[in-house]
Amino acid sequence: MKKIVIAIDGYSSCGKSTTAKLVAAEMGYAYIDTGAMYRAVTLYFLQHHIALTNPKEVQDGLDNIDVSFHYNPKTKRNETFLNGLNVEDEIRKMYISNQVSEVSVVAAVRHAMVAQQQKMGRKRGVVMDGRDIGTAVFPDAEVKVFMTADVDTRAKRRQQELLDKNQLINLDEIKENLQKRDHIDSTREESPLRRAEDAHLLDTSFMTIDEQVEFVLNKVTTTL
Ligand code: C5P
Repeated sequence: MKKIVIAIDGYSSCGKSTTAKLVAAEMGYAYIDTGAMYRAVTLYFLQHHIALTNPKEVQDGLDNIDVSFHYNPKTKRNETFLNGLNVEDEIRKMYISNQVSEVSVVAAVRHAMVAQQQKMGRKRGVVMDGRDIGTAVFPDAEVKVFMTADVDTRAKRRQQELLDKNQLINLDEIKENLQKRDHIDSTREESPLRRAEDAHLLDTSFMTIDEQVEFVLNKVTTTL
């Protein structure tokens, strides 16, 4: 059967990665979490005190960053590695969420990440989630979905996710972070967060994960 690219974009904490992972498993495709890549770059920049306003420091930093994903049989999930070190838990912390959108605005960062993502998906057979997959990374993706949900619902879901990782964070702080990221992500010049014209809109406010997965798989079926 022909292999395709499934692009899942949308606002923060709409359930993109949960849906994308399950769709990938169902299809036997690779899942690529592009947000994790921007988070790993942010972690490296913070660790090395890289000034975002200094193009040479940024470029040198990018030249020294290797982000990869490896399956961990113990946790049964794909985990993110930065220069050979497992950073999966670290990049999900609030201090990274608070910085990642500023780092993701920088054009050199975007160029490097988009190029790497295009390479990862060049053989197709991938489900990629992010903000600009259907518009900039794979504008020719066969299936594009744009996810959205009410901000209070998203904040509650995110709080539960963090709680599952033993991080207790105030709901207002989470909501503020989501709204701030969405604003920066939607208004940046380079590959902003926006719905591709040919993307199917999916509002997950009142949907279960199973329903979200079914929605995407239905679109896949009508494409193949
Ligand atoms: O998906 P996640 O919430 O982990 O993404 C973290 C941040 O990474 C986003 O808020 C956004 O600033 C950035 N990002 C991006 N482009 C992508 C994926 C994520 O700018 N394709």
